[in-house]
Amino acid sequence: MAEPLDHMTHEEALAALTWQLELGADEAILEAPLDRYAEAAAARKPATKPAPVAIAPPPVEAGTEALAAAAADLDQLRAAIDVFEGCALKKGARNLVFADGHPGARVMIVGEAPGRDEDSQGRPFVGRSGQLLDRMFQAIGLSRTAEDPAQALYITNALPWRPPQNRDPSSDELAMMMPFLKRHIALAAPQVLVTMGNAATKSLLQTSTGITRLRGQWHAFDAVPLLPMFHPAALLRDPLKKRQAWADLLALKARL
Ligand code: URA
Repeated sequence: MAEPLDHMTHEEALAALTWQLELGADEAILEAPLDRYAEAAAARKPATKPAPVAIAPPPVEAGTEALAAAAADLDQLRAAIDVFEGCALKKGARNLVFADGHPGARVMIVGEAPGRDEDSQGRPFVGRSGQLLDRMFQAIGLSRTAEDPAQALYITNALPWRPPQNRDPSSDELAMMMPFLKRHIALAAPQVLVTMGNAATKSLLQTSTGITRLRGQWHAFDAVPLLPMFHPAALLRDPLKKRQAWADLLALKARL
């Protein structure tokens, strides 16, 4: 039986270990006995089964297009996005943020991506930016709670999951989710699109021109008139921009 070690000094314990190593005891003893002969025999046996062939997954872009196209209505589209595992943002998000408001509304708003409040409630534009957005559109008689499609809003985002720490969406993330957004617009079939901020505007218009130059004029996405506006978060940071935002709201009102 081994001697208890608590009477040994550090030097004595080290010397004992060195001595064992010199004798060839260089492996710790396992809890269960190990049959080294069986292990060696198994190592000599040729493998009988061929190694499984790795099949490359289909390209994510192709998958996204096909999934989006297969959605026949908004419920199916939401379900398709909910099960889509290609975008890493989903792993860090608490909820899918699909849309809010009236799906038959004349006006569809496309924002950037959910923030913390949106992520926890699963609805777009419910935090500080969202409260300003509601007040802005109420000023021209439009609301997400209106039942009449003529006065209603339908609201979504370019990305349905919150980017970590509210960082800007990457161009890869926006491109990956774009087929879903395009299908979302096609299924909601609004008369007018309003994009809030750079990410939504640049992705839908396929341009690198920034919002400051794009706003103030009508554009089109798939033949739907599109009005780019400053993001409400930009208006909160720089209230001087509110004058231009008001001009854009009046242009929208006149168009409707
Ligand atoms: N900003 C956005 O662009 N979308 C939201 O839903 C919230 C904040």
